[in-house]
Amino acid sequence: MTMMNNNPYKLCVAPMMGHTDMHFRYLLRLISKQTMLYTEMVASNAILHNKSKKLNKLEHIEDGPVGFQLGGDNPDQLAECAKIVESFGYNEINLNIGCPSKRAQSGNFGACLFDQPDLVARCVNKISKVTDLPITVKTRLGIDNHDDIKYLENFINTVSKEGVEIFHLHARKAILKKGINPRKNRSIPPINYERVYKIKDMFPDLKIIVNGEINNPVDAMKHLKYVDGVMIGRAVCNNPFLLNDIDILLHNEKSLKKEVILEKYFNYIEKHFNSDVKITDFTKHLSCIFKGYIGSKHTRAYMCHELNYEKEPVKKLEELIFKEDLWKNGQDSITTVI
Ligand SMILES: Cc1cc2nc3c(=O)[nH]c(=O)nc-3n(C[C@H](O)[C@H](O)[C@H](O)COP(=O)(O)O)c2cc1C
Repeated sequence: MTMMNNNPYKLCVAPMMGHTDMHFRYLLRLISKQTMLYTEMVASNAILHNKSKKLNKLEHIEDGPVGFQLGGDNPDQLAECAKIVESFGYNEINLNIGCPSKRAQSGNFGACLFDQPDLVARCVNKISKVTDLPITVKTRLGIDNHDDIKYLENFINTVSKEGVEIFHLHARKAILKKGINPRKNRSIPPINYERVYKIKDMFPDLKIIVNGEINNPVDAMKHLKYVDGVMIGRAVCNNPFLLNDIDILLHNEKSLKKEVILEKYFNYIEKHFNSDVKITDFTKHLSCIFKGYIGSKHTRAYMCHELNYEKEPVKKLEELIFKEDLWKNGQDSITTVI
């Protein structure tokens, strides 16, 4: 793993479907050299049966250190996937034990595996037989009625015995039975950081990463007094430069100029855009950077949709992002990822 410090896990960007794809990760890597990044969750079935190159979520460019998140409950299939993931140059295998979606529940993966720690341990065991990559687990504090620290302690105990040394804990339980959708499952019930801190006290030799509603550098630094790392999701989608703000405190990094990052990302687009992909696959990740600037509502709509219909989209993009008055402050409505 490309490690610039002893603990790349101090700051992690959460896996997020529809967001942490290869292009967003490239952009984030331009902003932060050290942050640990994660892919979107990809189900083992999708990897083993996906013949379509277009849907290939394994490709990636210069985004390490980066963990690949797998969803699945079949030890042999997961091991097969781990081999493929390793061959694509990822630095870590992360198992998703937190997704509450109906699809995950019907496939017996994600959060519903929280009350099957022995099966998770078997999955880890099989994966560890075929790869030397670190295997990590992202999970919740509980599910439905299994919502006490003893249950979580037992889960971590069982799974860590198979060699998992790093756990990312989204600091709330998942509600599966009541049919609450994934979005609501990211705000209900209230966050419980104390339980995460207690787990760190119980397992001092494991790396415990806290996740959930961490939105600013000051809060991130506070958590780091109690745990080994913070994982941030939505706040990074809404402002990727948050990583730089935290790096300034964590690693004495310099404050970055947005224009410089934009220029580098534009060079990446110029190099990798082709007729098989949509230009908005690249530019949708830029739209949040324009929030709050004059005309940004229009700029964002253009970056997310309209640019696809231009005859020469790269040229149009160049004209737009290197325009003089692009960075003038102004009022605009703000859309956020929730
Ligand atoms: C749009 C979206 C997609 C997500 N997809 C995943 C995923 O693929 N795998 C996963 O483990 N968590 C996923 N999550 C949950 C996040 O990783 C994270 O645990 C959650 O958003 C709480 O962190 P935050 O408050 O910093 O956003 C997703 C969250 C969002 C907002």
